[in-house]
Amino acid sequence: MVKDIATARNDFPLLKTQMNQESLTYLDNAATTQKPQAVIERLVDYYQTENVNVQRGVYALAQATTAKYEQVRQQVADFLHAQADEIIFTRGTTTSLNWVAQSFAPTVIQPGDEILITIMEHHSNLVPWQIVAKKLGAHLRYVELNDQAELDLAQLQANLNQRTKIVALTQVSNVLGTINPIKQITAWAHQVGAYVVVDGAQAAGHMPVDVQALDCDFYAFSGHKVYGPTGIGVLYGKAALLQQMPPVEYGGEMINRVTRQSTDFKAAPAKFEAGTMPIAQVIGLGAALDYLTSLGWSQIEAQEQHLVQLAGSQLQAIPGITLYGPPLSKPHAPVLSFNLTGVHPHDLATVLDSQGVAVRAGHHCAQPLMAALQVSATARASFAFYNNDQDVQRLITAVKLAKEFFQA
Ligand code: ALA
Repeated sequence: MVKDIATARNDFPLLKTQMNQESLTYLDNAATTQKPQAVIERLVDYYQTENVNVQRGVYALAQATTAKYEQVRQQVADFLHAQADEIIFTRGTTTSLNWVAQSFAPTVIQPGDEILITIMEHHSNLVPWQIVAKKLGAHLRYVELNDQAELDLAQLQANLNQRTKIVALTQVSNVLGTINPIKQITAWAHQVGAYVVVDGAQAAGHMPVDVQALDCDFYAFSGHKVYGPTGIGVLYGKAALLQQMPPVEYGGEMINRVTRQSTDFKAAPAKFEAGTMPIAQVIGLGAALDYLTSLGWSQIEAQEQHLVQLAGSQLQAIPGITLYGPPLSKPHAPVLSFNLTGVHPHDLATVLDSQGVAVRAGHHCAQPLMAALQVSATARASFAFYNNDQDVQRLITAVKLAKEFFQA
């Protein structure tokens, strides 16, 4: 049965709390999402009744918890339209992307080859490529924005050539809310034989993801941005590529046989999951995906689109506000970055904080993008399906208060 999104907010205990003696208006969902009671209870239940190590014990409880851990792998595979052996559990998106850069990239890059990324990347999909490009003698190239804060697709195509071995890009910008046409870009990249790595951190909790339809080679996302626990992330990779990619960490339960001088590794995904994994977090991620499924994408997308349109149009109407991102008439994820003329975003965010409104202010781990936008920082309001019109009203009222306060 589909759960009614109008009452979903009641499932999130933290949203009922206060900040600075005001009811909390949580608009920092791009940084992390709140957790529904079902996820919190699942974690408690795990520790109370199922807490054992997985993949090793022969006793019944160990077998049962291992089966549950593997069920979540299947659940994540279904969530992404992948196969279970294509799903690796990691610490988060950052780890997933670092692993592709550190372990897969050296298997396909020769000195003089090119890695193509975009100017809207989060540092976690930028710095690893800088480092690996330097190490392997490859060139790091960037696709810039057009005047609508979208990727310049003509420039992207012009940059693809026989030397391009990796195209790494975000599906949704954590600053601009731009949604990139991954399927189209993958088709172009594959024509020159390049592999496509997608940072799905800002997409996976907000829209359905089908890695088969996208045809990307790797896809990364984080549990804590899809209403699940921190400390758990996912790396999807096409099965053949994961076999080609060497393990990154070495240790327990990722081996078939170890002798004094050599080791034979298990097949993927086991060869990537050395040591004791974040088992509770995997189980909690499963509960979060169950929760998302109970709402369904059509309700989630409709509510988030409603919020971004409402907040975007009202912000835009305030004199002195500059919005960064595609026009609201274009595809727009529920992320709005903005500045108020003459006011530093940290000062703006501090006034918002005094009104109980939580937004992020700063460079959003995207300093090259900030430089391209010719700003040092922005304020950012990011929405989830549990936000409502009142949250938007509180944001707008607080921004107007800040404008008055700073006489901006
Ligand atoms: N990457 C997260 C953000 O954009 C933390 O806030």
